[in-house]
Parts: sequence; structure tokens; C-alpha cells
Amino acid sequence: MIYMSVTIGTPLQSSAFKVLLLGSGELGKEVVISLQRLGVEVHAADRYDHAPAMQVAHFSHTLNMADPEVLKALITQVKPNLIVPEIEAIATQVLVEIEEQNIATVIPSAKAVNLTMNREGIRRLAAEELGLPTSAYRFANTLDAFRAACDDIGYPNFVKPVMSSSGKGQSRVKSFDEVDAAWEYAQTGGRVNQGTVIVESQIDFDFEITLLTVRSKNAETGEIKTSYCDPIGHRQDAGDYVESWQPQAMTPVALEEAKRIANKVTIALGGCGIFGVELFVKGDKVWFSEVSPRPHDTGLVTLASQFQSEFELHARAILGLPVNTARHSTAASAVIYAGVDDKNLSFNGLNLALANPNTDLRLFGKPEGFKRRRMGVATARAETTDQARELAQHTAQQVSVQQN
Ligand SMILES: Nc1ncnc2c1ncn2[C@@H]1O[C@H](COP(=O)(O)OP(=O)(O)OP(=O)(O)O)[C@@H](O)[C@H]1O
Ligand SMILES: [Mg+2]
Repeated sequence: MIYMSVTIGTPLQSSAFKVLLLGSGELGKEVVISLQRLGVEVHAADRYDHAPAMQVAHFSHTLNMADPEVLKALITQVKPNLIVPEIEAIATQVLVEIEEQNIATVIPSAKAVNLTMNREGIRRLAAEELGLPTSAYRFANTLDAFRAACDDIGYPNFVKPVMSSSGKGQSRVKSFDEVDAAWEYAQTGGRVNQGTVIVESQIDFDFEITLLTVRSKNAETGEIKTSYCDPIGHRQDAGDYVESWQPQAMTPVALEEAKRIANKVTIALGGCGIFGVELFVKGDKVWFSEVSPRPHDTGLVTLASQFQSEFELHARAILGLPVNTARHSTAASAVIYAGVDDKNLSFNGLNLALANPNTDLRLFGKPEGFKRRRMGVATARAETTDQARELAQHTAQQVSVQQN
């Protein structure tokens, strides 16, 4: 029998095929645009009004998605076919119930969303259940246990609240003198106070990559297959990505190992969609770091490098449609920060930024900026990744932020 993917109805009519996006940032905005192109009715939710994805969705919902009752009420009201989490800070236990009761499909799966919102869940799955190589690690939820964990792991080490993202509450601890300050900092940066932290040994990598891994259905059989984009190299500053490029050159052995790890971890998480598998690489050796069950910020480069960006790949995969992960260009991306804490910002110099025909820009339209908040991204294509990186950074620098 031929496999039939979902039937797409007409948006805003009774036949509409509805997606509820939980979290409406810049990555979600691109996912919404991709879904709209396929005729999907999109509802975008976040904790504040006019979030980027809300600006391109059919409907917007402002609410506290970490509150189980509030989240349940929204799902009951919207009646989505698919629920697509874009951030980690949501009441994920609600999604487990929704999936169990067959009310909607959770992307990629409630298990994936639940395990990856907490560093402890995904680390134990990867290292202890799947036996994948990771840094050495300990968990601690009191200062005493934390001091012992740091001494156990040694220095330098990385300390992260288990419930946090984008480098929040994260520090690199160089010696025992810095341990108490790292504890204090972790307690302020996590999503829950007095939360557990992970202490990780430092991996001395040559470079780090995101291996975008797509689980999608075969067009004829409906069987799920795994495809990989070319590895994306990136540079992180204070736990946050500042530039990325594709492809990252690596040895054939390391690439095979990266795919093996990504395949294992994404099969364990299940469902359809794109995953950003973060890996550390040294020579032929690869370590698993973490995984996002959704498009990855470093994957913004795919807007310039691939026939189908990571956002189009996600949209297709979650609808059960075939994907193409091929790359047509070598490209890079560079982040544009607000540089100031203010609302209602303006952006100048776009003509200069786009003067080179191989460059492009995304301005996310965030209503409020902070010094280190990502407001946009520049992309560039070139012959080599070094040239693409230079051009992307030059492009980003041409954009100046003005207060009103
Ligand atoms: N054990 C480690 N050894 C070496 N470097 C590390 C280690 N852990 C983290 N890092 C560095 O810190 C960066 C951020 O760490 P991680 O990805 O765990 O945090 P995050 O808050 O989830 O970040 P994001 O949400 O932006 O992915 C990594 O990309 C890497 O550069
Ligand atoms: Mg990360």
C-alpha cells in the first residue's frame, strides 16, 4: 500500500491543518514561513506579545507556557494537529499527557521534548543507556555535593544548571577558588531556583559541530529514515553562538562516528523532524555534547547553503513529506546583537551590508533588545568557509543599531 502523508486543508476554514508553535523566536519564525508555504494554519505562542514568529503566524497567543493549566487550556482552544515546541521552558509533562491521549502529535515526540529540556535526562540517556562518548560528569543539588563533584571531575570544568539554555548560569571553573561563585551563578541562571547542576570535564576539542539530523518519512513506504546535513562548524562565546559555517572539514572517520552518534541518539528520541546534534571533535574522536529536537541556532547558515534550509526540512519532516539535505554552496552566518538594552530599535546600513550579491540578512523584529540579544543574522556565500566567515562578519558589522 502507498503511504499517505497528512491532508492539508485550507487555513482559517474548518478543514485547516493546524500547527501550534510553542515558543516564537527567530527559528520559529522561519519554521512558520515554511509551514505557511505548504498551506498550514499556524498558531504561534510565547510569553510576550509580537514575538518574531507571531508576526508571520495566522494567530498569536501570549501566555505562560510553563504553567500546565494555562498550556492545557491553549491546546484545548486551538485543537492543533501538531504541537511544535521551539523552546525548552514549557510544561513538558502536559505534552506527555496530550500524546498519550492522542489529542495531538507532539514534535518530534513527547519523550524527546521531555528528555532534552533537562540536561540530566539527555545526558543519562546518551552516556548510560546508549553508551555514547561524552565528557565525564556529575550532578549536584547542594553546595556541598557540588564542591565534591567539582573536585571529583577536576579543573577546568564546565558547570551548567540542568534546566537552562543559551549559556545562562553556565561557567567554566578553573580552580577550587571559583567553585562557590559558580554555584551562586548557576542558581540565578537556571529556569528553576535551587536547581540541580551538571559538572562536566572539559573536552579539549579541535572544533565543535552541529550535525543537523533529519528523521523523515520515505515518500512511498512511509518508513522513517535518517538523513544528515553537512556538518556545521561554529564558535561560541559565553555559551552562545556568534558565527557558524558549513561545511566544517573533518576526517572521514570522524564524520562516520558523528553520524553514528547522531543516528543512535535521534532513534532513541523518536518521531519526525530535525535535530541539532552538538558534537565535539578532535582528530578522529567525537564526543556527544547535547541535542535540540528542533532547528538549531547555528543552522541559520543553511538559509544560504542548502536547497532546503533546516526550517524547510523541519516543516517537511513533521508533515511526513520527503526531504533533501543537499548543500549547494559553502556559506557562513554571523550574529547581529542589539548592543544596547532598549525597545523600539532601528537598523541602519542595510544597503552596505547587502552590497555584495552573495550576502543576505534576517532581521527578527524583536520588540526589545538587550546588549547580548540576537536581533538578526547575516549570511554569506563564498568559495571557502574562511572567506564566507569573513564576508558574513563584515556583513553583520555593516548593520548599525540605532535607539529611538
Ligand atoms: N564539557 C565541555 N568541554 C568543552 N567545552 C564545553 C563543554 N561544555 C560546554 N562547552 C562549551 O560551551 C558551549 C555551550 O555549552 P552547551 O551547549 O552545553 O550550553 P547551552 O546553554 O545548551 O548552549 P546552547 O543553548 O546555546 O546550545 C559549547 O558549545 C562549548 O563551546
Ligand atoms: Mg549547546
